[in-house]
Amino acid sequence: MNVISIREMTKEDMEKILQNAAEIASGKRKPDLRGKILATLFFEPSTRTKLSFQSAAQRCGMNVLDFLTEQSSLKKGETFTDTIKTISGYADVLAIRHPKEGSVRFASDVTNKPVVNGGDGGNQHPTQTLIDLFTIKQLKKKIDGLNVYLVGDLKHARTMRSLLYALCMFGAKVTVVAPKGLEMERSYVEEIEAKFNTKVAKTNEMDIKDADVLYICRIQSERFEDPLEAKRVTEKFRLTKESLIGSKEELAILHPLPKINEIDAEIDRMPQAKYFEQAHNGIPVRMAVLEYVLKR
Ligand code: CP
Repeated sequence: MNVISIREMTKEDMEKILQNAAEIASGKRKPDLRGKILATLFFEPSTRTKLSFQSAAQRCGMNVLDFLTEQSSLKKGETFTDTIKTISGYADVLAIRHPKEGSVRFASDVTNKPVVNGGDGGNQHPTQTLIDLFTIKQLKKKIDGLNVYLVGDLKHARTMRSLLYALCMFGAKVTVVAPKGLEMERSYVEEIEAKFNTKVAKTNEMDIKDADVLYICRIQSERFEDPLEAKRVTEKFRLTKESLIGSKEELAILHPLPKINEIDAEIDRMPQAKYFEQAHNGIPVRMAVLEYVLKR
Protein backbone atom coordinates (compact mmCIF):
# COMPACT_ATOMS: atom_id res chain seq x y z
CA MET A 1 0.00 0.00 0.00
CA ASN A 2 1.38 3.40 -1.03
CA VAL A 3 0.40 6.93 -0.02
CA ILE A 4 1.24 8.97 -3.11
CA SER A 5 -1.72 11.29 -3.58
CA ILE A 6 -4.71 12.16 -1.41
CA ARG A 7 -6.81 11.74 -4.56
CA GLU A 8 -6.20 7.99 -4.53
CA MET A 9 -7.29 7.49 -0.94
CA THR A 10 -10.87 6.67 -0.04
CA LYS A 11 -12.67 8.72 2.58
CA GLU A 12 -13.00 5.51 4.59
CA ASP A 13 -9.22 4.97 4.60
CA MET A 14 -8.57 8.56 5.58
CA GLU A 15 -11.13 8.38 8.39
CA LYS A 16 -9.51 5.18 9.64
CA ILE A 17 -6.05 6.84 9.71
CA LEU A 18 -7.48 9.89 11.51
CA GLN A 19 -9.25 7.66 14.05
CA ASN A 20 -6.08 5.63 14.66
CA ALA A 21 -4.04 8.83 14.99
CA ALA A 22 -6.54 10.14 17.58
CA GLU A 23 -6.17 6.93 19.59
CA ILE A 24 -2.37 7.12 19.33
CA ALA A 25 -2.41 10.79 20.41
CA SER A 26 -4.58 10.00 23.43
CA GLY A 27 -2.29 7.12 24.46
CA LYS A 28 -5.00 4.47 23.89
CA ARG A 29 -2.93 2.54 21.40
CA LYS A 30 0.53 2.36 19.83
CA PRO A 31 1.34 0.58 16.56
CA ASP A 32 3.83 -2.25 16.99
CA LEU A 33 6.12 -2.16 13.95
CA ARG A 34 9.19 -3.66 15.61
CA GLY A 35 11.62 -5.26 13.17
CA LYS A 36 10.61 -2.95 10.30
CA ILE A 37 12.87 -0.32 8.76
CA LEU A 38 11.91 3.09 7.39
CA ALA A 39 14.19 4.75 4.80
CA THR A 40 13.84 8.52 4.48
CA LEU A 41 14.99 9.84 1.09
CA PHE A 42 14.71 13.62 0.97
CA PHE A 43 15.96 15.21 -2.23
CA GLU A 44 14.67 18.60 -1.01
CA PRO A 45 15.12 20.26 2.42
CA SER A 46 12.71 19.37 5.22
CA THR A 47 12.47 19.79 8.96
CA ARG A 48 9.00 18.57 9.92
CA THR A 49 8.25 15.85 7.41
CA LYS A 50 11.58 14.06 7.65
CA LEU A 51 12.07 14.34 11.41
CA SER A 52 8.47 13.55 12.31
CA PHE A 53 8.57 10.47 10.05
CA GLN A 54 11.76 9.36 11.76
CA SER A 55 10.37 10.09 15.22
CA ALA A 56 7.07 8.36 14.38
CA ALA A 57 8.91 5.27 13.12
CA GLN A 58 11.07 5.08 16.25
CA ARG A 59 8.01 5.44 18.48
CA CYS A 60 6.49 2.43 16.65
CA GLY A 61 9.64 0.40 17.39
CA MET A 62 11.06 0.74 13.86
CA ASN A 63 14.63 1.48 12.83
CA VAL A 64 15.45 4.31 10.45
CA LEU A 65 17.86 4.67 7.53
CA ASP A 66 18.43 8.28 6.49
CA PHE A 67 19.60 8.61 2.88
CA LEU A 68 21.66 11.79 2.58
CA THR A 69 21.84 12.90 -1.05
CA GLU A 70 25.06 14.89 -0.63
CA GLN A 71 26.96 11.88 0.75
CA SER A 72 25.44 9.29 -1.57
CA SER A 73 26.49 7.73 -4.87
CA LEU A 74 24.11 10.13 -6.63
CA LYS A 75 27.23 12.34 -6.52
CA LYS A 76 29.01 9.74 -8.70
CA GLY A 77 26.17 9.85 -11.20
CA GLU A 78 24.00 6.97 -9.98
CA THR A 79 20.43 7.32 -11.23
CA PHE A 80 17.29 7.91 -9.15
CA THR A 81 15.92 4.57 -10.36
CA ASP A 82 18.98 2.60 -9.30
CA THR A 83 19.03 4.42 -5.96
CA ILE A 84 15.40 3.47 -5.23
CA LYS A 85 15.91 -0.13 -6.36
CA THR A 86 18.99 -0.46 -4.14
CA ILE A 87 17.43 1.05 -1.00
CA SER A 88 14.33 -1.14 -1.52
CA GLY A 89 16.50 -4.07 -0.46
CA TYR A 90 17.50 -2.34 2.78
CA ALA A 91 14.17 -1.03 4.07
CA ASP A 92 10.51 -2.03 4.43
CA VAL A 93 8.99 1.37 3.61
CA LEU A 94 10.34 4.45 1.83
CA ALA A 95 9.33 8.04 2.65
CA ILE A 96 10.43 10.23 -0.26
CA ARG A 97 10.48 13.97 -0.98
CA HIS A 98 11.58 15.15 -4.40
CA PRO A 99 11.41 18.51 -6.24
CA LYS A 100 10.07 16.92 -9.41
CA GLU A 101 6.33 16.34 -9.68
CA GLY A 102 5.50 12.69 -10.31
CA SER A 103 8.90 11.42 -9.15
CA VAL A 104 7.53 9.74 -6.02
CA ARG A 105 4.96 7.87 -8.08
CA PHE A 106 7.78 6.89 -10.43
CA ALA A 107 9.72 5.54 -7.43
CA SER A 108 6.71 3.47 -6.40
CA ASP A 109 6.74 1.88 -9.86
CA VAL A 110 10.31 0.64 -9.48
CA THR A 111 10.05 -0.79 -5.96
CA ASN A 112 7.91 -3.50 -4.40
CA LYS A 113 8.08 -1.74 -1.02
CA PRO A 114 5.43 0.74 0.19
CA VAL A 115 6.20 4.35 -0.70
CA VAL A 116 4.94 7.44 1.13
CA ASN A 117 5.06 10.79 -0.63
CA GLY A 118 6.73 13.42 1.56
CA GLY A 119 6.03 16.07 -1.10
CA ASP A 120 6.72 16.05 -4.84
CA GLY A 121 7.38 19.48 -6.32
CA GLY A 122 4.21 21.60 -6.46
CA ASN A 123 2.05 18.49 -6.74
CA GLN A 124 0.96 16.63 -3.58
CA HIS A 125 1.82 16.33 0.11
CA PRO A 126 -0.72 13.77 1.34
CA THR A 127 0.56 13.18 4.88
CA GLN A 128 0.52 16.95 5.50
CA THR A 129 -3.14 16.92 4.46
CA LEU A 130 -3.88 14.13 6.92
CA ILE A 131 -2.17 16.19 9.66
CA ASP A 132 -4.26 19.23 8.66
CA LEU A 133 -7.54 17.28 8.75
CA PHE A 134 -6.54 15.73 12.07
CA THR A 135 -5.72 19.15 13.54
CA ILE A 136 -9.00 20.68 12.36
CA LYS A 137 -10.97 17.73 13.79
CA GLN A 138 -9.11 17.96 17.11
CA LEU A 139 -9.79 21.69 17.35
CA LYS A 140 -13.32 21.93 15.93
CA LYS A 141 -14.64 18.37 16.46
CA LYS A 142 -15.82 18.33 12.84
CA ILE A 143 -14.87 19.37 9.30
CA ASP A 144 -18.25 19.25 7.58
CA GLY A 145 -19.76 22.74 7.21
CA LEU A 146 -16.75 24.67 8.52
CA ASN A 147 -15.69 27.84 6.69
CA VAL A 148 -12.07 27.20 5.75
CA TYR A 149 -9.97 29.86 4.04
CA LEU A 150 -6.87 28.75 2.13
CA VAL A 151 -4.61 31.79 1.80
CA GLY A 152 -1.32 32.47 0.01
CA ASP A 153 0.64 31.18 -2.93
CA LEU A 154 -1.89 28.65 -4.15
CA LYS A 155 -0.13 28.23 -7.48
CA HIS A 156 2.96 26.58 -6.01
CA ALA A 157 1.84 25.13 -2.67
CA ARG A 158 1.45 21.35 -2.90
CA THR A 159 -0.05 21.29 0.61
CA MET A 160 -2.96 23.43 -0.62
CA ARG A 161 -3.72 21.23 -3.63
CA SER A 162 -3.99 18.11 -1.48
CA LEU A 163 -5.87 19.98 1.24
CA LEU A 164 -8.49 21.57 -1.03
CA TYR A 165 -9.38 18.14 -2.38
CA ALA A 166 -9.70 16.60 1.10
CA LEU A 167 -11.66 19.52 2.58
CA CYS A 168 -14.22 19.33 -0.22
CA MET A 169 -14.40 15.56 0.25
CA PHE A 170 -15.14 16.10 3.97
CA GLY A 171 -17.80 18.76 3.29
CA ALA A 172 -16.02 21.97 4.35
CA LYS A 173 -17.02 25.29 2.74
CA VAL A 174 -13.75 26.46 1.21
CA THR A 175 -12.64 29.92 0.07
CA VAL A 176 -9.34 30.19 -1.80
CA VAL A 177 -7.54 33.53 -1.39
CA ALA A 178 -4.47 34.18 -3.53
CA PRO A 179 -2.60 37.20 -4.86
CA LYS A 180 -3.30 37.84 -8.56
CA GLY A 181 -1.22 35.44 -10.64
CA LEU A 182 -0.76 32.97 -7.79
CA GLU A 183 -4.22 31.38 -7.90
CA MET A 184 -4.63 27.63 -7.90
CA GLU A 185 -4.90 26.16 -11.39
CA ARG A 186 -8.51 26.75 -12.46
CA SER A 187 -9.00 23.32 -14.08
CA TYR A 188 -7.87 21.61 -10.85
CA VAL A 189 -10.40 23.58 -8.76
CA GLU A 190 -13.18 22.92 -11.29
CA GLU A 191 -12.43 19.21 -11.26
CA ILE A 192 -12.80 19.15 -7.46
CA GLU A 193 -16.01 21.20 -7.60
CA ALA A 194 -17.50 18.75 -10.07
CA LYS A 195 -16.33 15.67 -8.19
CA PHE A 196 -17.77 16.73 -4.84
CA ASN A 197 -20.68 18.77 -6.19
CA THR A 198 -19.54 21.87 -4.34
CA LYS A 199 -18.54 25.46 -5.06
CA VAL A 200 -15.17 26.84 -3.99
CA ALA A 201 -15.27 30.63 -3.41
CA LYS A 202 -12.34 32.45 -5.08
CA THR A 203 -10.95 35.88 -4.24
CA ASN A 204 -7.78 37.98 -4.42
CA GLU A 205 -8.62 39.93 -1.24
CA MET A 206 -8.12 38.80 2.34
CA ASP A 207 -11.48 39.20 4.09
CA ILE A 208 -11.70 36.48 6.74
CA LYS A 209 -14.63 37.60 8.90
CA ASP A 210 -16.61 34.37 8.65
CA ALA A 211 -13.61 31.98 8.71
CA ASP A 212 -13.56 29.16 11.25
CA VAL A 213 -10.13 28.09 10.02
CA LEU A 214 -7.57 30.30 8.32
CA TYR A 215 -4.92 28.19 6.64
CA ILE A 216 -2.07 30.33 5.35
CA CYS A 217 1.04 29.20 3.49
CA ARG A 218 4.24 30.95 2.58
CA ILE A 219 4.99 32.54 -0.77
CA GLN A 220 7.33 29.96 -2.31
CA SER A 221 10.03 32.35 -3.46
CA GLU A 222 12.27 29.44 -4.54
CA ARG A 223 9.73 28.68 -7.29
CA PHE A 224 9.65 32.33 -8.56
CA GLU A 225 11.73 33.61 -11.47
CA ASP A 226 11.73 37.15 -10.04
CA PRO A 227 12.57 37.33 -6.26
CA LEU A 228 11.31 40.95 -6.07
CA GLU A 229 7.87 39.81 -7.16
CA ALA A 230 7.89 37.18 -4.39
CA LYS A 231 8.75 39.90 -1.84
CA ARG A 232 5.96 42.17 -3.11
CA VAL A 233 3.21 39.57 -2.78
CA THR A 234 4.48 38.37 0.62
CA GLU A 235 4.12 41.89 1.98
CA LYS A 236 0.57 42.19 0.66
CA PHE A 237 -0.52 38.87 2.21
CA ARG A 238 1.14 39.19 5.63
CA LEU A 239 -1.11 38.23 8.53
CA THR A 240 -1.01 40.83 11.32
CA LYS A 241 -3.00 41.43 14.50
CA GLU A 242 -4.83 44.16 12.55
CA SER A 243 -5.86 41.77 9.79
CA LEU A 244 -7.62 39.64 12.44
CA ILE A 245 -9.89 42.52 13.57
CA GLY A 246 -13.50 41.43 13.08
CA SER A 247 -12.61 37.75 12.72
CA LYS A 248 -14.30 35.05 14.83
CA GLU A 249 -13.00 34.75 18.38
CA GLU A 250 -12.56 30.99 18.02
CA LEU A 251 -10.75 31.27 14.66
CA ALA A 252 -7.95 28.69 14.27
CA ILE A 253 -4.90 29.80 12.31
CA LEU A 254 -3.00 26.96 10.67
CA HIS A 255 0.16 26.90 8.57
CA PRO A 256 2.09 23.86 7.26
CA LEU A 257 5.36 25.65 8.17
CA PRO A 258 8.03 26.76 7.56
CA LYS A 259 6.71 30.30 7.87
CA ILE A 260 9.04 33.10 6.85
CA ASN A 261 7.43 36.52 7.29
CA GLU A 262 3.83 35.97 6.19
CA ILE A 263 2.68 35.84 9.85
CA ASP A 264 3.71 38.57 12.31
CA ALA A 265 5.63 37.11 15.25
CA GLU A 266 3.11 38.54 17.74
CA ILE A 267 0.44 36.23 16.29
CA ASP A 268 2.47 33.26 17.56
CA ARG A 269 1.46 34.27 21.09
CA MET A 270 -2.26 34.52 20.32
CA PRO A 271 -4.61 31.67 21.22
CA GLN A 272 -5.76 31.44 17.60
CA ALA A 273 -2.27 30.34 16.46
CA LYS A 274 -2.37 26.55 16.22
CA TYR A 275 0.48 25.86 13.78
CA PHE A 276 3.02 24.44 16.22
CA GLU A 277 0.33 22.13 17.62
CA GLN A 278 -0.36 21.21 13.97
CA ALA A 279 3.34 20.42 13.36
CA HIS A 280 3.43 18.23 16.49
CA ASN A 281 0.40 16.32 15.24
CA GLY A 282 2.78 14.96 12.60
CA ILE A 283 3.83 12.31 15.10
CA PRO A 284 0.52 10.48 15.75
CA VAL A 285 -0.61 10.95 12.16
CA ARG A 286 2.63 9.58 10.65
CA MET A 287 2.59 6.70 13.15
CA ALA A 288 -0.89 5.87 11.86
CA VAL A 289 0.30 6.24 8.24
CA LEU A 290 3.24 3.86 8.80
CA GLU A 291 0.86 1.33 10.33
CA TYR A 292 -1.53 1.80 7.40
CA VAL A 293 1.10 1.15 4.72
CA LEU A 294 2.84 -1.71 6.53
CA LYS A 295 -0.08 -3.61 7.98
CA ARG A 296 -2.69 -3.48 5.24
N1 CP B 1 5.23 21.15 6.37
C1 CP B 1 6.36 20.64 5.83
O1 CP B 1 6.31 19.84 4.86
O2 CP B 1 7.50 21.05 6.44
P1 CP B 1 8.97 20.64 6.01
O3 CP B 1 9.22 21.21 4.63
O4 CP B 1 9.87 21.21 7.05
O5 CP B 1 9.02 19.14 5.95
